[in-house]
Amino acid sequence: MNKTVYIRNIADHVGREIRLHGWMYNRRSSGKICFLIVRDGTGFIQCVAVKKEVGEATFDLVESMPQESSLTLTGIVREDPRAPGGYELTLTSAELVSPAEPYPISLKEHGVDFLMNWRHLWLRTPRQHALMQVRAEVIRASQEFLEKDGFIRIDAPVLTPAACEGTTTLFETDYFGDKAYLTQSGQLYAEAACMAFGKVYCYGPTFRAEKSKTRRHLTEFWMLEPEMAFYDLEASMQLQERLVSYIVKQVLERQRRALDVLGRDVEPLLEVEPPFPRLSYDDALQLLKEDGFDLPWGEDFGAPHEAAISDRFAKPVFVHRYPAQCKAFYMKPDPSRPEVVLCADLLAPEGYGEIIGGGQRSDDLEHLERQMAEHQLPREAYEWYLDLRRFGSVPHSGFGLGIERIVAWVAGIDHIREAIPFPRTISRIYP
Ligand code: 4AD
Ligand code: MG
Repeated sequence: MNKTVYIRNIADHVGREIRLHGWMYNRRSSGKICFLIVRDGTGFIQCVAVKKEVGEATFDLVESMPQESSLTLTGIVREDPRAPGGYELTLTSAELVSPAEPYPISLKEHGVDFLMNWRHLWLRTPRQHALMQVRAEVIRASQEFLEKDGFIRIDAPVLTPAACEGTTTLFETDYFGDKAYLTQSGQLYAEAACMAFGKVYCYGPTFRAEKSKTRRHLTEFWMLEPEMAFYDLEASMQLQERLVSYIVKQVLERQRRALDVLGRDVEPLLEVEPPFPRLSYDDALQLLKEDGFDLPWGEDFGAPHEAAISDRFAKPVFVHRYPAQCKAFYMKPDPSRPEVVLCADLLAPEGYGEIIGGGQRSDDLEHLERQMAEHQLPREAYEWYLDLRRFGSVPHSGFGLGIERIVAWVAGIDHIREAIPFPRTISRIYP
């Protein structure tokens, strides 16, 4: 008896006396009977202390301990459909581990900015707890999918001498007298790795000094970047639709409770299955025209354009073959139409916009050399990358999946900052 149990497993212990370690999240008391909501990191449970049964000392303790005090409880597990979560603990004893000071986050509504200042404590609340579980599942499922598909994880460095995604959003740092940058993407290294291992992915934090203050931009975000030798654009898109469908399915299966806590309508997620619709940039531009957007050919889509396009589809939609001028230097031109490149962005439905960017890479040394000159990229920093075209160059493709973007979509939240434990934005580096 008195085995320490996690709330997650409480259903296995109905009728038994157990011990629980946790924190006091909420309480109401009549003076004779006190209801506590206790959380232990794996869940929340209602605990009941009846004064007559637990005795005066224990009752006074649970009735007076401040919110977020830590405690050890013993009690008997009961099944009770009226209790939140369906189970309840009838207390037999309680012990204080450490009392909390007056807690800054009360249970009333607070503004997000206030809550973000207390992010280290805000993470304890049910909604944030649910979001982080969805995030963990997205990461777990995506890696599981790739490993089952024969990929090997080969990580890229964070400190780099060169830009991958344009020179305007680089975080620069001093590297023993030289300049170095925080990586914008592990892609170039994943390209090297796929020539060594075939199918690879890297996963890690990436950085962009984005000046834009939007609901979709962080300055530090996590990216999953698969890269495949001998894959063309179409093969890469087929992999993406299988991967994204798998992630959504796993979250639905394994984190349904979290989605309920978040109030996520799961109907649209049930539709997410291959194949996803495919739309060329030109066709997308035409749709935008019908919707009243007057965007000249050659310009990249912004958030409102992406929302308008994806609104027409129930599933995520690929937009492929963008004009070369609005994409990165490493993209392979379409041989039948060199003014567009063999790339695709995957736009999530319900207005979420781009969750994946990727494409087929230029495998031609001379083309890449011209591109680098045009983009004014310093040759020395990229010689190793050009070597990949000198020593057995092959067609290859890859893509980057933004973890916070996909979490925000699957969880149905309206701002990306809650999709990461400690967000970094243009206006926030604390806590
Ligand atoms: O489209 P992006 O810039 O593509 C790349 O970085 C490629 N090198 C990836 C590759 O092919 N290996 O970024 C990829 C994804 C976007 O689709 C988006 O989901 C996410 O990364 N992303 C951001 N997420 C949050 N905040 C930002 N500032 C982001 N910028 C990109
Ligand atoms: Mg992109």
